[in-house]
Amino acid sequence: MKTVIIGTGSFAPPRVVTNDDLAEVMDTSDEWIRTRTGIEQRHISDGPGTTWMAAEAAKLALKDAGVEPEDIDIIIAATTTADNCFPSAACEVQGILGAGNAVGYDVSAACSGFIFALHTMDGLMKTGAYETGLVIGVDNLSKVVDWSDRSTCVLFGDGAGAAVVRVLEEEEDRDGGGILAADMGSDGRKAEVLRCQSRTMGNFLTGTKPEPGYITMEGQEVFKFAVKKVPECIQRVLEKGGLDAGDIKYFVLHQANYRICESIAKRLKVSMDKIPMNIEHYGNTSGATIPILLDELNREGKLEPGDKIILAGFGAGLTWGAVLLQW
Ligand code: UT7
Repeated sequence: MKTVIIGTGSFAPPRVVTNDDLAEVMDTSDEWIRTRTGIEQRHISDGPGTTWMAAEAAKLALKDAGVEPEDIDIIIAATTTADNCFPSAACEVQGILGAGNAVGYDVSAACSGFIFALHTMDGLMKTGAYETGLVIGVDNLSKVVDWSDRSTCVLFGDGAGAAVVRVLEEEEDRDGGGILAADMGSDGRKAEVLRCQSRTMGNFLTGTKPEPGYITMEGQEVFKFAVKKVPECIQRVLEKGGLDAGDIKYFVLHQANYRICESIAKRLKVSMDKIPMNIEHYGNTSGATIPILLDELNREGKLEPGDKIILAGFGAGLTWGAVLLQW
């Protein structure tokens, strides 16, 4: 039994904010942002948020897969910025799509979220409980960044990506295609390095006041963690699949910083030709970066049946993970 991606979709809000736009409202510059991160612009939602973006990406993924909403058995949305504490983004998307036969819930693993959700989906599909699933990575970080903290707010953008998956029995195996291996991890001792505290309305018992929740980050700590942990988990997933880096067509990496991706490429001893990038257009859309990039590769016809690719991410938790799959 293998879980195969049969369709992808992605969506970003139409409003584009360039580095120069930000330089007009805070002490930063296009030059600083571009050279330190590779980001040139990001999409920011000035209207509806997470559910809307997720549903738009999901509709495109369903269309690409040729699957009707009522044929979906399960929806898992990876997000840390659902529009509500409850219901989940997945339930709201289920309602919008009219996917009345699907169970839906969210997974919280920040920028590693899509990897964690895909791994969860793969495990569930292989139990035989579900046949067709929808995995979404979506985040609306513009509503939780501290717009007075230039060291974080310039990095993030809003967006969503989605993949429709189907479990194939041995006999319908698409030339060995599907998810081949996965490896992921967490280190809660480093939780402080990247955090977005929950908003609270305060509590009359303790006399605490309402507090906003926003992102705080020790950028260099995250940088060091990413360039160490991501290559390590990619190596482990390669070993599990009996492959080496030369067998991989693309490493679809979380888009947090161009320099992080370059360092990962160096450690893996692969050229940047194998590391597709789109951070210049979107910034860091957290749980959405990997499925947006995967969708772009798919739509540009860059993925051929038989190609082996690795999706890998890292983020708050701290968390990290990689999935090896054959297209
Ligand atoms: O999805 C995971 C989420 N996060 C990440 O992946 C972040 C990983 N870390 C990074 O990408 C990098 O650490 C950053 C891009 C966040 C920062 O780059 P850096 O090379 O580590 O810069 P830095 O924090 O050491 O700051 C260098 C200087 C400082 O000024 P001084 O102290 O040298 O005078 C900052 O105050 O750059 C200043 N600075 C800025 N200047 C202009 C910080 N943010 C800005 C800004 N514009 N937006």
